[in-house]
Amino acid sequence: MQQTIEELDLIRVLILEDVPEDAELMARHLSGDGLRADVRRVASEEDFRRALSDFRPEVILADYSLPGFDGKSAMWIARIEAPSVPVIFVSGAIGEESAIALLREGAANYVLKDNLFRLPSAVRQALREFRERKERVEAERKIREYYKRLRSLSSELTLAEERERRRLANELHETLGQVLAITRIKIAGLKDSISGGAVDEILALMDEAILRTRSLTLELSSPVLEQFGLVSAVEWLAEQMQERYGVPIAFNCNGNIEEPDNDCRILLFQSTRELIINSITHANARTIKIDLRKEKQMIRIEVTDDGVGFDAMLIHRTSGFGLLSIRERLKYVGGRMLIKTGLGKGTRIAMLAPIRSRNDRKAVNEQLTI
Ligand SMILES: Nc1ncnc2c1ncn2[C@@H]1O[C@H](COP(=O)(O)OP(=O)(O)OP(=O)(O)O)[C@@H](O)[C@H]1O
Ligand SMILES: [Mg+2]
Repeated sequence: MQQTIEELDLIRVLILEDVPEDAELMARHLSGDGLRADVRRVASEEDFRRALSDFRPEVILADYSLPGFDGKSAMWIARIEAPSVPVIFVSGAIGEESAIALLREGAANYVLKDNLFRLPSAVRQALREFRERKERVEAERKIREYYKRLRSLSSELTLAEERERRRLANELHETLGQVLAITRIKIAGLKDSISGGAVDEILALMDEAILRTRSLTLELSSPVLEQFGLVSAVEWLAEQMQERYGVPIAFNCNGNIEEPDNDCRILLFQSTRELIINSITHANARTIKIDLRKEKQMIRIEVTDDGVGFDAMLIHRTSGFGLLSIRERLKYVGGRMLIKTGLGKGTRIAMLAPIRSRNDRKAVNEQLTI
């Protein structure tokens, strides 16, 4: 249930007023109407500024003109020092035009000193709006924070996946691969003592198992990426996928490409694999093309197919995670993804990632500033 203003704690009210009796009258109107107010009165710019920081008012009641200071300047100071704290002008008659101008410049309300009975409701309304605004700003901040964490999580996932792939590849190679190789040698040694074709059959099966283990190892984690860099790894990937799925994949690299940092390299490699798999599984493509080039301080990889195309708005609605995740991870490193597609028009997806990712730049900057 929403609390009413009365049920809340004391409201901190800052009154900018040079006449103490006027300020007391305002305070009496507030308490007389059931508002519990902690009131502080100031009359100079210096005291006003100090009160903004140490009293932290929730509402400001300002006289229009005071000796040596004025309410309008106070409103501008408050806008910078205590943004969104409402300022209500409480003053003698200043004329309709000036009052309208004040409201236009951001005053929450304007109450005549002769009509102080209007003050409590003006304060209530301003406070309600102030609190709602504060809650909204806080909610937006939280959403932005969650979004940032989600992106960082998704980027962390890329690295975790790559680590896990490498671990599995090592495991396969080091343990299963070795065991199979040794077993094969031992069985081959038995060949002369056992008659019949049984041993040959077992050997053929063993050869197949060894071959599968090798290709699985490569599929899980290509040493090409680490040893020869992104361009060679993407070219190797195109060859592997072409061989495996029987769809021609053309690879084209323009110019000399600087090797990106590790995060970007892994991200672009994994994402290219995802895009090729999409073209193979969803597009029914006859050909796929991969273009790689440098664009300013970015690397641009484009995967184009001549398949069925799709409605790009769908990526928010399908249960698939591939494209969404590529887009978020690219944003996280300071890059972006562009999709050009339409039903029956094939698909072209471009990924742009900075050669140096944001995180890496941050790390470099931190190193420099230590
Ligand atoms: N190259 C393409 N051609 C045609 N449709 C595509 C292509 N790429 C993606 N799509 C469509 O966009 C949808 C979303 O793709 P996305 O990669 O995000 O998810 P997915 O491939 O369905 O699942 P996941 O990648 O999580 O295994 C796909 O389901 C498909 O309908
Ligand atoms: Mg996919």
